[in-house]
Amino acid sequence: MINHSTLAHAHPNIAFIKYWGNRNHELRLPSNGSISMNLASLETRTELKIIPEWSSDTLWLNNERQSGASLERVQKFLDIVRSKSHHNLFSEVRSENNFPHSAGIASSASGFAALTVAAVKEYGLNLSEKDQSRLARRGSGSACRSIPSGFVEWHAGTADEDSFSVSIAPSSHWELWDLIAIVDPGIKEYDSTTGHLLAETSQLQHARVMDSIRRLEICRKAILSKDFESLADIIELDSHMLHAVMMTSRPSLFYWSPISILVMKEVAAWRKKGIPAAYTLDAGPNVHVICTADSRAQLLPFIQEIPGVQKVIPSPVGEGAEVIH
Ligand code: PMV
Repeated sequence: MINHSTLAHAHPNIAFIKYWGNRNHELRLPSNGSISMNLASLETRTELKIIPEWSSDTLWLNNERQSGASLERVQKFLDIVRSKSHHNLFSEVRSENNFPHSAGIASSASGFAALTVAAVKEYGLNLSEKDQSRLARRGSGSACRSIPSGFVEWHAGTADEDSFSVSIAPSSHWELWDLIAIVDPGIKEYDSTTGHLLAETSQLQHARVMDSIRRLEICRKAILSKDFESLADIIELDSHMLHAVMMTSRPSLFYWSPISILVMKEVAAWRKKGIPAAYTLDAGPNVHVICTADSRAQLLPFIQEIPGVQKVIPSPVGEGAEVIH
């Protein structure tokens, strides 16, 4: 365990049915289940090395030494690993994303998924995929969906033991793509951890959560039967419901920019014309355009040409988190 390091990698994921709000914030037990696909083109690589002489952890993100909130979040996560492994040893964590932080794509899912598999290996824990997913959840809720491969469902569960993600179909099952339209590279005002705390202040959150079982079922079936029309309808509805909750919370969280709306309108018009495309937005203004392998080549220049779209990052479906060496 000592004097070597573990390198691991993981992909972020895009949620089709979104996670928003917790029943237990400390344990990150979500208010509702969620479904996502991993994004192969985007990746976090994390190297973790135990330094026996050290009395605290250090964190480097994209070669910059971190302090403050991001370091504390990683230290808190490693405290959980230490308590599970009974080794009171501290680590140097070096993490790099192949996507620019400034692109406004959240890296907490891939970051904590990669950190989980690296730490599990390095601290000598013997955990199943399910237990690694439970552990990743403690760092960032959506990170638990980046542990398994392909299309993934996070079962909300009722406690720490039964809140984890499983693969519902491998990446090879359906050649979907996410064309991520980067519309605003700015750092967002409210991160998702703050957002989850505000979810219950919206009168609409209860209705969103109550209806989530129905949406999960439609989404799961659409993926398993490769029914793009049903998938498109349900992911757009789910994204609208998420943003309705965000906009009606106190304080109000308004993540869309005028360009986001422009892209959404264009995607809706293309689908009316028979091109398989659907949109979904997380806690930020970038628009994820989900499409089939056949429609990808046609859509890419269309999206790039929308005024205000700075660039498009295309990604097929990705695998789960793994140790590289
Ligand atoms: O895992 P967090 O705390 O970054 O929350 C993710 C929240 C959304 O991206 C908006 C939805 C989701 O399910 O990924």
